[in-house]
Amino acid sequence: MAVQPHFLLITYPAQGHINPTLQFAKGLTRIGVLVTLVTSLSAGRRMSKTLFPDGLSFVTFSDGYDDGLQAEDDRDHFTSELKRRGSQTLNELIVDSAKEGKPVTCLVYTMLLQWAAEVARAQHLPAALLWIQPATVFDIYYYYFNGYGDIFNNCKDTSYAIELPGLPPFASRDLPSFVLPSNTYTLALQLFQEQLEQLNQETNPKVLVNSFDALELVAMNAIEKLNLVGIGPLIPSAFLDGKDPLDKSFGGDLFQGSEDYTEWLNSKTKSSVVYVSFGSILVLPKRQIKEIARGLVDSGLPFLWVIRDEQSKNEVKEEEEEDHLSACREAILERQGMIVPWCCQVEVLSHPSIGCFVTHCGWNSTLESLVSEVPVVAFPHWTDQGTNAKLIADVWKTGVRVVANEEGIVEGDEIKRCLDLVMAPGKTGEDIRKNAKKWKDLARDAVREGGSSDKNLKAFVQEVGEGSF
Ligand code: UDX
Repeated sequence: MAVQPHFLLITYPAQGHINPTLQFAKGLTRIGVLVTLVTSLSAGRRMSKTLFPDGLSFVTFSDGYDDGLQAEDDRDHFTSELKRRGSQTLNELIVDSAKEGKPVTCLVYTMLLQWAAEVARAQHLPAALLWIQPATVFDIYYYYFNGYGDIFNNCKDTSYAIELPGLPPFASRDLPSFVLPSNTYTLALQLFQEQLEQLNQETNPKVLVNSFDALELVAMNAIEKLNLVGIGPLIPSAFLDGKDPLDKSFGGDLFQGSEDYTEWLNSKTKSSVVYVSFGSILVLPKRQIKEIARGLVDSGLPFLWVIRDEQSKNEVKEEEEEDHLSACREAILERQGMIVPWCCQVEVLSHPSIGCFVTHCGWNSTLESLVSEVPVVAFPHWTDQGTNAKLIADVWKTGVRVVANEEGIVEGDEIKRCLDLVMAPGKTGEDIRKNAKKWKDLARDAVREGGSSDKNLKAFVQEVGEGSF
């Protein structure tokens, strides 16, 4: 009797990694794969296991930072503990699953957990990387470490155009922040390098990309030595293909939400509301928050703004009575907006009242805007976000990108200018809305039965079953 495929999935304990991994896991169970999902205790505590389908089980381990990683924590220590304790957990699970008659047949790990590939090799299991950023960004890192390093080191000048095979020309602001000469987060770059080294050791290296062929066809095929496979967008089914109408959230929110925005959204007219969110990691300087508030108030548009508690605490820390955000907050609340500490973003973006998304361009937020047909004001900060903003504004043309002043702050007037461009009647807004519709349709085509991502995922599972990779 054939063994049921059993995939062991391990995700880095951050929201932007957990969400696509959960969706990937759900997608696998839909095609008959048994899945064991592993993450650290801090993230596991926040998972809504009741939302998970049959066939998906869940294991957590202590990485030594059980209350979650704090800004002041030593990242090198965290990284090495995660590796040590995570490797041990994976090894034990592989042994135990075999004893229970459900042997693991494949190990899939998200980026920054490249040591999982070593575990797989030692256990003679096939492994694949689940890349949770665009293929374009993967390629840029690849080029950085494979013969193009000098070009990056020379790009101090913001007008300098970088040409890389198969990719659009980039200015330095379009590149992942870790490859720029100004990068101070050397650990991140080192981890990306280790990841590529791990892939180089595989005979048939596989990178499963949370993207789809039509969106990044050239980038997906730019690197001959590595096999990038589009299996996305990884978004709850109810907002994408409707295969499972009950699948309405990722199921693993690391932050406490508020429930009271839906009624407010229901009271707004179609495509009238600006949704503002900067993801799960960024804490903006107080001056920037103030300028965003100014831009929103001056635009006159209704808005829903996510300000995580962490950001609010930062405001209090930096307190200066005269221009504290709370003053803005009151003015804002009275007039036209609503601020929440967290929301179900996929649900918000699919609400008919949403007309535009002011986003930091995290890759998940980027894909979520795409499948919801919501035009974007791209407001990138670091890591892959500049590249994602470039793709949004110049390649897919589903939004406009803000321009920061010399101090790196995006002023209120600039935010209002961008909102006017996207929301007001006029050619720019019309073109953006037309493109947003086109990409939404293509995203849905990719995941439907027989679409490129659907086929790629099934082919991958089949290859694992046949032992052909
Ligand atoms: C991080 C990096 O910052 C990002 O650049 C990279 O592409 C992925 O990893 P993050 O900053 O959290 O991610 O942004 P993003 O990728 O957009 O992921 C945030 C997730 O949180 C999204 O899936 C979004 O739906 C969800 N979210 C955000 C909520 O559910 N509610 C909120 O209120 C805000």
